[in-house]
Amino acid sequence: MSESKKYKVFFNKDKKTGKKIKNKIDKYGFCIVENVLSKSIVNSLIKELKVANNKINKNIQNIIDCEKKGISANDIYKKKLAHLRLQKNKHRPPKAVHDLVWMPKFAKAIASSNILECIKIILDDHVRLSQFHTKIIRKQKQKRFFYLDIMKTLRPTGYDKNLRDWHTDWPHDPWGGGPTAKTNLGSLKEPFPDVTMSLTVIWFLTDIKKKGGTIVIPGSHKRKKSPRSLNINLYKPLKNEITVSASSGSVLIQDSRLWHSPPPSSIDENRIAVINRWSPWWMSINDYAYDCITNVMCRPLSKREFKKLPKKLQPSMVHLIPDLKENLTKEIINRSYLSIKNSLKKKN
Ligand SMILES: [Fe+2]
Repeated sequence: MSESKKYKVFFNKDKKTGKKIKNKIDKYGFCIVENVLSKSIVNSLIKELKVANNKINKNIQNIIDCEKKGISANDIYKKKLAHLRLQKNKHRPPKAVHDLVWMPKFAKAIASSNILECIKIILDDHVRLSQFHTKIIRKQKQKRFFYLDIMKTLRPTGYDKNLRDWHTDWPHDPWGGGPTAKTNLGSLKEPFPDVTMSLTVIWFLTDIKKKGGTIVIPGSHKRKKSPRSLNINLYKPLKNEITVSASSGSVLIQDSRLWHSPPPSSIDENRIAVINRWSPWWMSINDYAYDCITNVMCRPLSKREFKKLPKKLQPSMVHLIPDLKENLTKEIINRSYLSIKNSLKKKN
């Protein structure tokens, strides 16, 4: 098997595929799943994403402008100065609306892809969508420069092929979203326990065979530490790194502990992807940084918007809706029922 093939699984809607993906993630910390979305679906998703991305950016900018003028989140919401929604916990300020509201075709694509079933095989029978955002790696004329991202984290960008931005994802990111309680989402104490707590799923909508996608270090999810905690240069290539290569319509699934870097920009081409993060039911995904109304963590949506989502996706998004109660899935309830039943049998 060639070096790159050993990280790949060709997607089929059967249980074996889910187990194969789980085995790769256990061993390497990631898996490239090929053939998840057809070419025609990818084309319609790109069109939808471009329109949605403009709306999302405009909305976030509106919120930032209002905040700069000293307008409270409650007033932005009541006066409809931007698209905010009430959070599940109504004692918290309204927050930027969930991006999926503007991407119904993408919601349908996730629901019909069966990737959700694979995620459940890896994490547990009840999973929650913790983050969702579009990602356009824009072409750059500059070789390298730094900017502050929405979480006030310093990020490098540019077309320099030796430029890296090594990190692990939340909750295994020691930077945790920033140095103030307003943006900090928490970070796990090191050394990390050997448990998969969050999966980052990147849906590649453009081909990344020539230009390359995410850069990863296979097996680094077992290192128990994040590169951001070590005395290394985070912006240079590292030994044993590989660049993910895949056709459009492929999906990269990675353990949040995996050491990875976004690819350098291209001089002449944008690369388009959608990123979502999934956690098991027991993770504290919605509890902190609640004053930061623009971050991507658990953006809420209204009950009416929720009802328009595909039925299959709804159990993984109830935690984002005020006035709706989240129940554990029947598989988890049944697990307890069987355990109690078996224990009682033994007693007799
Ligand atoms: Fe990342």
